[in-house]
Amino acid sequence: MEADDVRRAWEANADAWTRHSRAGYDIYRDALNTPAFLAALPTVKDLKGLDIGCGEGSNTRQVARLGANMHAIDIAPTFIRHAEEAEQTEPLGITYRTGDAVSLPFEDDTFDFATAFMSLMDVPNQRAALSEACRVLRPGAFLQFSILHPCFVSPYRKTLKDEHGRRVAIQNAGYFDNIDGRIDAFWFETLPDELRQQDGPFRVPRFHRTLSQWVEMITMAGLTIEQFVEPCASLELASKEPVVADTRIAPMSLIVRVKKPM
Ligand SMILES: C[S@@+](CC[C@H](N)C(=O)[O-])C[C@H]1O[C@@H](n2cnc3c(N)ncnc32)[C@H](O)[C@@H]1O
Repeated sequence: MEADDVRRAWEANADAWTRHSRAGYDIYRDALNTPAFLAALPTVKDLKGLDIGCGEGSNTRQVARLGANMHAIDIAPTFIRHAEEAEQTEPLGITYRTGDAVSLPFEDDTFDFATAFMSLMDVPNQRAALSEACRVLRPGAFLQFSILHPCFVSPYRKTLKDEHGRRVAIQNAGYFDNIDGRIDAFWFETLPDELRQQDGPFRVPRFHRTLSQWVEMITMAGLTIEQFVEPCASLELASKEPVVADTRIAPMSLIVRVKKPM
């Protein structure tokens, strides 16, 4: 699958994704993944940062509120339009641009840090995206990114429930299948039926890679691994937001912090 096909797919998702996530239906993001990501993030106050694959900008805004001077790119123009509208409503000094993670529109050694929230696994050429991120970081700067967990969200995944509807196991298959652009159709889990019918499912091209492939791509890009975080819902969160309870069985996402050597 080519970058143009990926852009078209995300462009088709962008309006509904923005509405549904802003209405609070992206519970994994809001309740678990973003808080875990921000907890792992080093201090960014007064640093110049780039958010890669920013979507409608919710997470970019969170990083900007920590005092960073943020720039952000996304391949889908409609996401960028929604992000810019939010910037007009709540100015945080964020500069958004439409762009592809594999050819970032920035000079070498520009940023003190970069983030990529749940976006790099959606790029067909992840190796090139990691190399590009490395190129635009200044020596000593870090990239922190989250992806669907390569080990526990393999190409075929099912959450198994007991007779009481409790999530008790995760079934995974196809770990070594390097799928390239298979379209997965889904809704945010708690989205009401009327919105499902109105908007249809998101259609997301998937590019699954194994954990060892991710480590190889990171090191070949010239980056060194600093930290892995595997978000797991607390008992309290799992009972408040049952959607994320399966992360107590196995993680849904992996947060990785890597560094460009000095
Ligand atoms: C799962 S969404 C995450 C959006 C946002 N980071 C968030 O956390 O809400 C993945 C995003 O990656 C973007 N994306 C996919 N391929 C891309 C590419 N090659 N370059 C830049 N952005 C890309 C999509 O348009 C989409 O906004």
